[in-house]
Amino acid sequence: MSNWTPEKTIVNSWNEWDPLRHVIVGKADNCHIPPEEPALDAKVPEDSDMRGQWGKRPQETIDRANELLDTFADQLRARGVKVDRPTPIDHSLPATTPDFHTDSQFGCMPPRDVLLTVGSEILEATMSYRCRWFEYLNYRPLMQQYWEEDPNFRHESAPKPRLTDADYHDDYLSEKIGVEKRLQWTADKFFVTTEEEPLFDAADVLRFGRDLVVQHGFTTNLKGIEWIRRHFPDHRVHAVNFPGDPYPIHIDATFTPLRPGLILNNPQRRLPDDQRVMFEKNGWEIVDAAQPAHNAPPALCYSSVWLSMNVLVLDPKTVCVEKSEVYQAEQMDKLGMEVVEVDLRDAYAFGGGLHCCTADVYREGGCEDYFP
Ligand code: ARG
Repeated sequence: MSNWTPEKTIVNSWNEWDPLRHVIVGKADNCHIPPEEPALDAKVPEDSDMRGQWGKRPQETIDRANELLDTFADQLRARGVKVDRPTPIDHSLPATTPDFHTDSQFGCMPPRDVLLTVGSEILEATMSYRCRWFEYLNYRPLMQQYWEEDPNFRHESAPKPRLTDADYHDDYLSEKIGVEKRLQWTADKFFVTTEEEPLFDAADVLRFGRDLVVQHGFTTNLKGIEWIRRHFPDHRVHAVNFPGDPYPIHIDATFTPLRPGLILNNPQRRLPDDQRVMFEKNGWEIVDAAQPAHNAPPALCYSSVWLSMNVLVLDPKTVCVEKSEVYQAEQMDKLGMEVVEVDLRDAYAFGGGLHCCTADVYREGGCEDYFP
């Protein structure tokens, strides 16, 4: 894989830690808080300031988030990583299909949710929110360019789901369910999405070479995981659950591989014993992530304080950590990683942290078997 040059795209990335050379960083332009819809409502925390309101996000927050994302992109470029940016579509437009209607879309953040890079393939996820149904269009100019430049690039799109009401459990739609009941439901693997049709978001998938680890939760159902399994016949696909998470969407503030043999696990969302076997048998260590530096997420944010562990690994010895997350940075240092501080907290509300707001295009290295 040493024939990489910044001039011509090569798509190649098999895991979350090999040296990063080319990446996509999202944009906050025109991002919206979408109107109510089943899967989104189930995720918005019950005490959130976002309940009951929708529309374009305040312009000053958009400008601030873009400033931070631009600076992050420049920081990556200064370290020799090529950075591409998407072309935002008009998120204020409604989305209507024969099966559903929503009055606005979501945004062009975060790319990790939509694009799953596996080797020379970038797969557009089905998504599971109606407001995110057209989100792949933000990345189509880049996908087209990659397709022109890299003769081996496989641009794939998972079957678009219907997203009718049959895709969602009504039980999740009452206003006050209470955290206790939510935790019980998570433990019982009863989520807002049904098994009507395959659904998955790309950010529920972690890549470990030959193995793909996929969180079963609100945004990815078992049929979605089965679809991924059939789509990547040369991979082993593992479904995982984290019973401590009352709002289980997207795995990357829960389980974070840093390098071969080392994973951070959110101490409130412990991987169950029976799902640890493959890691333990192969000598991998799963350590508790450090505590977040904040006790509440910023305003109008979907995510929890655990975006602290949503780090972007640049290579097995170097990791980008959000600047205010001092405990996480300290832990990285103890684990022998060089820390690159990145100011991103004011962009958290747009869908996540450093891992979320990026999508891999090229990492050095090939497909290894870490769990023989
Ligand atoms: N569900 C996570 C939390 O609130 C946030 C994950 C964000 N990740 C993403 N790819 N958008 O802790």
